[in-house]
Amino acid sequence: MKVALRRIKDVLWTLALLALVVVVLRLTKGLGATTALSDKIPWGFWKVLNMVAGVALATGGFVMAFAGHVLGIRSLKPLIRPAILLAFLGYGSSCFALLMDIGLPFRFYNPFFHWNEHSFLFEVFWCVTLYFTVTVLELAPIALEESKLGRVKRFLGKISGPVVILGITFSCLHHSSLGSLFLVSPTRLDPLWYSPFLPLHFFLSAVGAGLMMVILLTLLVARLYRRQAPVELLGKVAAAAGIVLSIYFASKVLDLALRGAAGDLLSGRWEARLFLVEMLLSVILPVGLVLVPRMRRTSRGLAVMGLLAVTGLVLNRLDVGVFGYFRSAGTIYVPTLPELSLTLGIPAAAGLVFFFFVERFRIFDLPEKVEEEEIETVPATACTAFQSQTGVWTGVFLDNLERWSLILVIVVPVALGIFSPRASARGPASTPVSPPRGADEARAKLKIDGNRNGRLVLFDHEAHKKREGGEEGCGKCHHLDVPGDRWTACYLCHRDMDRPRSIFDHGLHEKRIAARLGLRGTLAENHTCTECHPPDLVRARENTKRCVACHEKDMRMPERTEGRPDLALSYRDALHERCVRCHEKQDPKAHPGLTECAACHSGSGSASSPGK
Ligand code: HEC
Ligand code: HEC
Ligand code: HEC
Ligand code: HEC
Ligand code: HEC
Ligand code: HEC
Repeated sequence: MKVALRRIKDVLWTLALLALVVVVLRLTKGLGATTALSDKIPWGFWKVLNMVAGVALATGGFVMAFAGHVLGIRSLKPLIRPAILLAFLGYGSSCFALLMDIGLPFRFYNPFFHWNEHSFLFEVFWCVTLYFTVTVLELAPIALEESKLGRVKRFLGKISGPVVILGITFSCLHHSSLGSLFLVSPTRLDPLWYSPFLPLHFFLSAVGAGLMMVILLTLLVARLYRRQAPVELLGKVAAAAGIVLSIYFASKVLDLALRGAAGDLLSGRWEARLFLVEMLLSVILPVGLVLVPRMRRTSRGLAVMGLLAVTGLVLNRLDVGVFGYFRSAGTIYVPTLPELSLTLGIPAAAGLVFFFFVERFRIFDLPEKVEEEEIETVPATACTAFQSQTGVWTGVFLDNLERWSLILVIVVPVALGIFSPRASARGPASTPVSPPRGADEARAKLKIDGNRNGRLVLFDHEAHKKREGGEEGCGKCHHLDVPGDRWTACYLCHRDMDRPRSIFDHGLHEKRIAARLGLRGTLAENHTCTECHPPDLVRARENTKRCVACHEKDMRMPERTEGRPDLALSYRDALHERCVRCHEKQDPKAHPGLTECAACHSGSGSASSPGK
């Protein structure tokens, strides 16, 4: 087992180190370069797997605290400490995942100061951070057991009662509010998962699977450290989990029936199949196994039902948080390599901390296994119930050069792959266009050189104006103006030398429209959305109000049905289209050579005017 444990730790280290690379990448390059998230699928694996599912699996902490301290079930005592550690790690890694997932991680503290009491996320934020603090306070006495900090320990002992109660409250509150979060998307989330009872579903499934997680961890520790698993006790916990999961199942069935969504199950859509698989994994199979007494009495049976329930819960959170949106978004989301690395790396790091705690402190109090055939004597250390057989921290750095080189051989190339310019340079390179310079005082002639590379075109603006008949002809070139302006210069909209760029500034519209509607206050812009987006549809270009609806007068906006009326071609294409088209229409006999490159471009690199 010593070897197995060491292998496990090696894998965890590798994953955790990879994640560290991703953390640097994410903090320096941003979400766009590291994730496959979009406005249509804005919640990916970090939030849904690491945060929503992670927190749910850590529920054991407060359930055990409730059963042990409030209901006074003595026999659960051996499981309370592991459950607290699980809660600490689950919430700690959730907080970390959330930090990586929010747009401006350096402003994570904002919800402490700017209260938005209309937001479920606000409640989730407070409960998660407060409960994390609670788990720290609950874990501290265990970690300080062997230390000499008498006064601190006495203080922690004194506050432990209220701390436990607070922990239970926060946990209950935010488990249901995590479900409420998804209530804001009735038109987007697939009807199989969307339900007004989401908060209840979330709460029940988290309690059931959280208990199963405690069982799994205890079995794992017993196996890796050759201890006796308290199978009888775990069997009882499994039975309790089974009851909770059955209630969850009943509420799901009732909910489907009440909402009339049950017929949908047989529709043959992939969502329906996924839903059935999820129910099978998360409830039907585990509860079925719990009902068999023989299964409850063996480690193997318990492990199988635990694994099923935990997998089922993870799948459920993915369905509600990611997969259930694919149809309404009209697109799917496939996580990027960095996303996957961090998704695995956070629990891996938590796993290492877990082993550290298990080996250092009295977390699990399990009797040693007797029928030991392996004669491996392990030195007893002063304070631990479990010897540091394979140090998580110090040992690895010093004496295991080969293992480390192996880890590095894996980590470095993958990290290089993630960092490679192709992987990180996802945004298009843009070349902003500069205004033309005047060739004379009056700017009658313009030197057009959008990217300032010296390859310029001398354009006789005045001559062209005159030829096209003054005011009458301006529109032949100046086809579109910015509101309130006349004959807006091309470079203001055709802003990129080589690529089309949108002239629609979303944020600016929110501000200007809020001002026009007379809305004030920091969140005024939030009330402008329905001016353009129908309230019950996905907010996307396809179904927003047409530009001409507001801009008919001031912008003479061409309303194209196909294509994008707001997408201005690259500067080069725009000028070529306009200039060359007209030159082609001229009589070649009257104006020879007008379509040749040299008519406008007078030799590369030179700034001279084209010959007449
Ligand atoms: C009617 C005038 C006209 C004609 C004819 C014309 N161009 Fe241009 N072209 C322009 C203008 C104006 C620009 C924008 C100049 C700038 O911003 O540097 C431009 C830009 C370019 C650019 C990008 C320049 C840069 O600085 O990156 C290239 C390349 C180019 N043209 C190639 C051609 C070629 C090749 C032909 C002949 C097939 C041609 N053009 C004919 C007017 C013309
Ligand atoms: C043959 C096409 C064409 C016609 C016709 C034309 N313009 Fe322009 N105009 C241009 C181009 C090209 C620019 C400068 C390129 C840019 O903005 O990047 C320009 C720039 C301007 C500017 C900015 C001036 C500056 O010094 O930067 C104004 C103002 C303007 N045009 C007004 C007019 C008016 C008024 C008319 C009609 C009387 C007119 N234009 C006719 C092509 C044309
Ligand atoms: C107010 C912003 C704006 C200004 C100013 C502007 N454009 Fe455009 N332009 C656009 C947009 C947006 C499109 C795409 C619209 C579409 O496809 O209907 C476009 C399309 C074009 C096209 C292709 C479609 C067509 O009408 O043939 C050409 C050519 C063009 N612009 C040239 C110019 C030139 C030359 C100037 C300056 C004299 C200019 N534009 C000034 C926004 C602008
Ligand atoms: C002036 C009209 C207008 C207003 C007001 C407006 N939008 Fe939009 N919105 C658009 C247009 C046009 C697009 C598509 C163009 C784009 O992506 O920039 C869009 C796109 C979006 C998208 C999808 C972006 C994508 O990449 O698919 C979201 C999300 C969105 N808006 C949210 C909002 C919210 C939230 C508000 C209110 C705070 C709002 N919009 C207010 C016009 C508007
Ligand atoms: C609900 C009405 C509404 C719709 C729809 C709308 N706009 Fe606007 N737009 C405005 C208002 C209001 C302003 C501010 C005008 C002002 O300040 O005079 C504005 C300003 C602009 C400006 C000037 C921005 C600047 O730099 O000052 C552009 C360009 C523009 N809109 C493009 C678009 C395009 C492209 C679309 C379609 C995708 C669009 N708008 C749809 C209301 C609208
Ligand atoms: C509406 C039609 C039309 C458009 C659009 C147009 N041109 Fe011209 N251009 C002409 C005609 C006609 C001549 C020929 C004048 C002559 O030979 O006397 C000309 C001549 C020229 C010449 C030769 C020198 C001169 O001034 O006579 C250059 C350079 C030139 N154009 C550049 C451009 C550029 C750059 C653009 C785009 C910004 C452009 N033209 C757009 C009609 C047009």
